[in-house]
Amino acid sequence: MPRSLFCNELCDSLRLFATAFGGRLAASSGLSRNTMLDNAPRTDDLPRHCTFEPADWRILARHWYPVAELREVEDKKLVGAVLLDEKLVVYKVDETVVVANDICTHRGVPLTLGSNPDSTGVRCAYHGLQFGKNGRCVKVPAHPDGAIPNKLHLKSYPVEIRYGLVWTCLRPEEGETAPKMPLMPHWDEAGFQQINVPPFDIAGFAGRQVEGFLDVAHFAFIHTETFADPDNPVVPPYVAKPTDYGFEVEYWSTVGNYPSSKAHLTPKDYQWLRHFRCSPPFTAHLTVHFPDGGKLSILNAASPISARKTRLFCPIARNFDTHLPVQDVYDFNHKVFAEDAGMVEQQKPENLPLDPRLEAHIPADLSSINYRRSLRDMGLSHFFIA
Ligand code: FES
Ligand SMILES: [Fe+2]
Repeated sequence: MPRSLFCNELCDSLRLFATAFGGRLAASSGLSRNTMLDNAPRTDDLPRHCTFEPADWRILARHWYPVAELREVEDKKLVGAVLLDEKLVVYKVDETVVVANDICTHRGVPLTLGSNPDSTGVRCAYHGLQFGKNGRCVKVPAHPDGAIPNKLHLKSYPVEIRYGLVWTCLRPEEGETAPKMPLMPHWDEAGFQQINVPPFDIAGFAGRQVEGFLDVAHFAFIHTETFADPDNPVVPPYVAKPTDYGFEVEYWSTVGNYPSSKAHLTPKDYQWLRHFRCSPPFTAHLTVHFPDGGKLSILNAASPISARKTRLFCPIARNFDTHLPVQDVYDFNHKVFAEDAGMVEQQKPENLPLDPRLEAHIPADLSSINYRRSLRDMGLSHFFIA
């Protein structure tokens, strides 16, 4: 029998089996089959074991998030990631990076168990099926000369490489032409050094982490080992301005940003400017203005692994100390992240309450209040009220 005929017959018999099985189930429950389907909440587009409310997942899945460092994909050829509970495989074919579901279409084995020989595409560990650009199946070793049916191609997602990171979107808007990606000022500017701090995992919700990044009232309590002064807890007033991507805040204070060991370098009475830009749902950016025109540009891209886990990606650009080892920047930032994680991982409820009555607020929380409002404006609701 020709190969395609065999496939068609197989599909037809599977379809017949499914129809008969569905009919029997409906008959035994006393419901018509259509009634059963109409009443069931639709979850077939969600990842298995999804930790989000379906409506919230569908809103969050329209946005772009980083899932891997480009250098890691280049070194290892094959990297696993989880985004919004969806398990993904990230691999490189020639110069193209592919993000696809980490599940082989043949028998469901994770592709991250496989390999990517000579960057020719990910090869499944079980029967050796190989997948190339756009997740297309390019090889079936058991049938080297046969036609490859479309059903064998992987489900893949759009990819953008920005700021040294691989970004993807699980459910791009219909007709979207350009990705709506958070902007990172100074990354591509002459005189700025580009640094990718290795990602940092947090056992907490991305919304809590981002809110903490925007919060200026905790410096004097949490960050005294790294940069802040325990005797300088006062938060001067500031305003938030809406932007086309979210909102921004210019915050002036005397809290320095040098590591504690270099705090003496701050000129007397120097006012530090921290310029925050928030791109909901889970990305925020901070430019810290140092003395003598120094600028530190930090992207806080919180990638939601699930509703309870976050992988924080942090590209940094700076126009000073560019001759110093980047390892010092990694170490310093990891220390700051760990200080924050100590709080974020303990907060209750674990989710971010979007109902303003559920937590108490102080004037210093202006950024947090704007952040919560912008999430609410996206239509997110139930999930965020634990
Ligand atoms: S399960 Fe992947 S090739 Fe068979
Ligand atoms: Fe912090």
